[in-house]
Amino acid sequence: MTDIVNLKKELTSEITAANDLKALDEVRVSVLGKKGRITAIMKTLGGMDPEERKTTGQALNVLKDEIADLLKSQEAALKKQAMDERLATEHIDITLNTRPERAGKVHPISQTIDELVTIFGAMGFSVAEGPDIEDDWHNFTALNFPPGHPAREMQDTFFLPEDPSETDPEKARKVLRTHTSSVQIRHMENNAPPIKTICFGRTYRSDWDMTHTPMFHQMECLYIDKGVTMAHLKGCLTDFVRAFFKIDDLPVRFRPSFFPFVEPGAEVDIGYVKLSNGGMRLGKAKDNEDQCWMEILGSGMVHPNVLKNCGIDPNEYQGFAFGMGLERSTMLKYGIPDLRTFFDSDVRWLGHYGFDPLNRPNSATNY
Ligand code: DAH
Repeated sequence: MTDIVNLKKELTSEITAANDLKALDEVRVSVLGKKGRITAIMKTLGGMDPEERKTTGQALNVLKDEIADLLKSQEAALKKQAMDERLATEHIDITLNTRPERAGKVHPISQTIDELVTIFGAMGFSVAEGPDIEDDWHNFTALNFPPGHPAREMQDTFFLPEDPSETDPEKARKVLRTHTSSVQIRHMENNAPPIKTICFGRTYRSDWDMTHTPMFHQMECLYIDKGVTMAHLKGCLTDFVRAFFKIDDLPVRFRPSFFPFVEPGAEVDIGYVKLSNGGMRLGKAKDNEDQCWMEILGSGMVHPNVLKNCGIDPNEYQGFAFGMGLERSTMLKYGIPDLRTFFDSDVRWLGHYGFDPLNRPNSATNY
């Protein structure tokens, strides 16, 4: 029994002295392994008399359990100590820079739309929307293009299969809208005057060259109220064009023209000067320069038939409208030479011509 008491003291001090897991495992093997010290005493039990064997056997079993518990708690303590050491010495450097990423750019068309919203928003216009897939009524008939009118052919339209669920043939015939003027009709059908809206959107015609793509963008403007005259049209358009191009004395010229949905109709030209290096400058010609003109949009006083088609009495209300291609104005303002590149989805192009989202031109900047 004294042996067992001494062995317990000895083992306890060996276990508590083991200062890493490897040393602790060596102690375990030396105690409980096949040739371990407790195992060795176990083997002597056979030679004892029954009384001694009983008390020694019990004491050994207790010792075995105590030592096993002690080994377990020492192992837990050593593991915790090892983890504490790693936590104290190892660290992850979260201050490393992120991998460089390409910054996004605002597409020039989106930039132009945002600039126009700002300019017309300041004049009290709000933004209306309409579908890209139109019907014959909204794209043509209601806009005073009667069936068979040559202007329908002029527009090289993408026609779509008829909608069999529509009973009215003019609504059944579907087209990809050839202009945003269809949104004028939708807006007047659903809203009573006074109306002051602009609309932006994709439009479609079967064209493809330096200055034409089958899909392009237009802006439409519609103002309907009592007593609206051509003077309002001229004032609004002149202010808008000068604000958009940021040229206070930009020459603006109204030239009579025909569109079925307006009377009178006018095309609007802006002034530029040809430069000797082959380039051009928007603006007023100096004394020694020739004033040149380029067309940028179509406009006019809304035709009485169009008002009637939308349930508005032309004797009570008048209005003006205009429509403008967004690509052309964007190319002019920002010096982009080829329209087709707008829709190539080439990120190098966007990197060059796109706008930094956090530093974009607006009506408050001088660029
Ligand atoms: N829709 C015409 C086009 O696509 C442009 C246009 C001309 C719109 C005169 C108008 C307008 O609102 O009054 O060529």
